[in-house]
Amino acid sequence: MKDKLELLRSAAKAEIHAADSVQAVDEIRVKFLGKKGEITAILKQMGSLSAEERPIIGQLANEVRADIEAEIAGAMSLLKDKALNAKLEAEEIDITLPGKQAAKGSLHPLNSVLENLIDIFQSMGFDVVDGPEVETEHYNFEALNVPADHPARDMQDTFYLGPELLLRTQTSAAQIRTMETRKPPIRIISPGRVYRADEVDATHSPVFHQVEGLVVDKGITLCDLMGTLEKFAQEIYGSDTKVRFRPSFFPFTEPSVEVDVSCPKCGTKGCNMCKGAGWIEILGAGMVHPNVLRSCGIDPEVYTGFAFGIGLDRLTTTKHKISDIRLLFENDVRFLEQF
Ligand code: PHE
Repeated sequence: MKDKLELLRSAAKAEIHAADSVQAVDEIRVKFLGKKGEITAILKQMGSLSAEERPIIGQLANEVRADIEAEIAGAMSLLKDKALNAKLEAEEIDITLPGKQAAKGSLHPLNSVLENLIDIFQSMGFDVVDGPEVETEHYNFEALNVPADHPARDMQDTFYLGPELLLRTQTSAAQIRTMETRKPPIRIISPGRVYRADEVDATHSPVFHQVEGLVVDKGITLCDLMGTLEKFAQEIYGSDTKVRFRPSFFPFTEPSVEVDVSCPKCGTKGCNMCKGAGWIEILGAGMVHPNVLRSCGIDPEVYTGFAFGIGLDRLTTTKHKISDIRLLFENDVRFLEQF
C-alpha cells in the first residue's frame, strides 16, 4: 500500500507538470483527490490494515494528499497567471499607433467672405437682419419705387409663385421691412439669396447672393456713404485698394452710384479677371429716395439715409481670384478644400 501511495504521488506530480490548462489540472484533482479518486479509494481500504500499519499508512496517505494538493494549487496559480497574461497581451492597445485622421470640414468660401464682411460692418455699428426669400411684389418692387410698369422690372424678371408672391430679386426688400419695424437711427446689413431669370455662365447665375445695407439718421450725406464703402472695400481687399464711384441709376436711391474697386489681381493695369478694365464693380448704392422713406412713414425732411447692395458672389470670386462663379455652386470638395 505504501508503494502504491508513492506511485500515485509521482504519477500525480508528473501529470500536473504536463497539464497545460486550468481545466486539465482540475481534472487531475478529481482523478486523484475526488470522492471517487484514487487516493480516496486507498483510504477506503484502510480498514483491512493491521492496527500497527494503519497509522503509518494513514499518515503517509495524508502527506501524499497534502503534497498533491500543494502541487495542484501551485500549478493552478501558475496557469491562471499565464492565461491572464495571454489575455492581456492579446487585448493590448498599441498607443503608439498613429490615430485615424477625421476629415475636417471648412467654411464655404461664400460663408467665409460673408463672415469677414459681417465683422467689418459690425465693427462700424451695423446690426445683421434677415429677410424672406419669398417676397411680395410690394416689398420687392412697389415700396422701392418700382411700380408695375417700370422698365426696371424687365431686368429683374423672376419666378412668380402667385399673382403677388415672387422669389425676391434683390435684398433691397429688407430695407423696407427694416424701416417699417425700426425707428431711426437705423444701421443694418441684410445678407441673403436672390433670384433672377438669368442664363448660367461664368459670371451669371439665376441664384446668387447680395448683402443689403441701410443707414438712416438725421444728417446722413453722400460723404458718409462714400467713406463707409471705401473703408469696407479696403478692409476686404487690402488697404492699398482704390475705390471709384460712378454715377448710376436705381429707382429707390437718388443720387445713385456704382462702386468699383481697383482689380485685386492686376491693380488697375488690366488683366483677364477685370477683362482689361483694371476695375471691378462690386456694389450699387445711393441716398435713399424720399419716396421710399415716406412710404415707410419716415419724414424725408427730417431724416436722410444711404443704402447699398453688395454682390457677395462677385466679392468672393475677386477676393479669392476664382475664375468662374459656377464653382461656388457646384460644391466640388476638391475646390472647396482649398479654402
Ligand atoms: N438692389 C440693387 C440691385 O440689386 C442694388 C442696390 C441696393 C442699389 C441698394 C442701391 C441701393 O442691383
